[in-house]
Amino acid sequence: MHILIPTAEIYPYAKVGGMGDMVAALSRHLSKLGHDVRIVLPYYRNIKNLNLDHQIFLNNFKVNLPFKTINCRVLEYLETDSGVILYFIDYPEYFDREGIYNDRQKDYPDNPERFIFFSYAALLLTKHFDFHVDVLHGHDWPTGLIMPLLKCGIKWSAQIEEVKTVFTIHNLAYQGNYPLSYFKSIGLPESFLHHQDGLEFFGQISFLKAGIAYADHITTVSITYAREIQTDAGGCGLQGLLQKRKESITGILNGIDESIWNPLTDSYLTNHYDISTIEQKKLCKQDLQQKMGLHPDLNIPLIGGISRLVFQKGFDIVASALVDLLAENIQFALLGTGDDQIESQLTEISKHYSNFKFYNGYSEHLAHLIIAGCDIFIVPSRYEPCGLTQLYSLKYGTIPVVHATGGLEDSVNNIKDSTGNGIKFSPLTPYNLKIAILKAVELYQDDRDRWKKIMINGMKENHNWDYQILQYHNLYRSLTRIMHP
Ligand code: ADP
Ligand code: GLC
Repeated sequence: MHILIPTAEIYPYAKVGGMGDMVAALSRHLSKLGHDVRIVLPYYRNIKNLNLDHQIFLNNFKVNLPFKTINCRVLEYLETDSGVILYFIDYPEYFDREGIYNDRQKDYPDNPERFIFFSYAALLLTKHFDFHVDVLHGHDWPTGLIMPLLKCGIKWSAQIEEVKTVFTIHNLAYQGNYPLSYFKSIGLPESFLHHQDGLEFFGQISFLKAGIAYADHITTVSITYAREIQTDAGGCGLQGLLQKRKESITGILNGIDESIWNPLTDSYLTNHYDISTIEQKKLCKQDLQQKMGLHPDLNIPLIGGISRLVFQKGFDIVASALVDLLAENIQFALLGTGDDQIESQLTEISKHYSNFKFYNGYSEHLAHLIIAGCDIFIVPSRYEPCGLTQLYSLKYGTIPVVHATGGLEDSVNNIKDSTGNGIKFSPLTPYNLKIAILKAVELYQDDRDRWKKIMINGMKENHNWDYQILQYHNLYRSLTRIMHP
């Protein structure tokens, strides 16, 4: 099948969070299965700076938007190892910027125009294809408008006329909501605005709602999250529409890309290990203790965390639980960036406790060292559509301690005797988090044999996309009735 994936993020070219990882793994695994996969994404400054070899100029074309006409350039890049083709939409006025959505937490005020333009450009690009697109698979609010734009009667190209659309919700809380006045800039007929399933959303327009309302099929990134988003508590105002579309919603837990996240081959690690050489993991702990400036004692339980520091992720709860915890003989290695307030809370704590280290920033390298070097990994998210760091932890024999929500609920099974792979707790409070961490610490200290069995339980699990990719493949098949890749 010919699959077109418009996206705002794809690792390693442009990534803010797990969506970039997921889109990368999805496309590479679809290609491995024999599909023809094309990605379209903005040519951000960061991609320009990569100076990719073999990137070629494809063409220039004109995009007539309701609010202006833009001449953009398209570059084409073939990923030789995966066979995936990427199209970069180059329009410096919108994309030659420091960030993807924002600079230091402040959203670009012209985000609606940027992603209206991107939606048009992605659709017009298909005119230059010499094949018919079978499936278009968009991700989150930046690509939401593409769904109604394909259904409003505009003739984009013959190549995309029969296309079936899939829209994946990675995070329902990021909705791309803008003043109603932007509706005119999208160029959709009025009939797409004011009705229950139209773009209007509490007096604004919503790019995310557009995707949910008009895609042929919706997926989200875990089975539990697929259920949670249909409830008043988890629906972020969209629960009514999601309930209405429930027959067209599928939850598929993300996998992890083992070419990047595998303790045996991880290119960021100096020491490698797998189940048969599990004792070597302590060398990674040694490295991490040294790198973070922690007391070099392999017997002290080391607890890690890596996160965007936003309300969703619950690191304010961690900060509240820390004062009690840091009196124990345990160590922390946290990595994150985000809200100023959470950043300064954690920085402040790190000034007073030598067993608490916080690296305030973004570092792929340190992320790998933490996942490999820690004994325990915390994911205290208020909600978590899927969550990837707990999956990485399982693969690396680092025991996850998580709030039982969304994909965390689906991927972590409570330790019972020698079964299970981690610790889940609920509701999310500083006290419950503290108790859950101490439970893990106690097991680590009291029963190393059982600890090792639990590590191995997680390491043995298969989260390598083999299963997930078949689910996407079958979904595409059922929508298009095309049986071959
Ligand atoms: P989300 O997409 O909501 O942020 P996920 O758990 O799905 O959550 O994915 C987060 C991804 O971003 C993981 O690959 C994680 O390692 C990475 N990440 C988050 N914060 C940082 C950071 N400060 N430095 C390096 N990697 C980070
Ligand atoms: C979002 C979610 C996260 C998920 C990721 C990839 O960023 O917050 O839970 O793992 O997308 O699907």
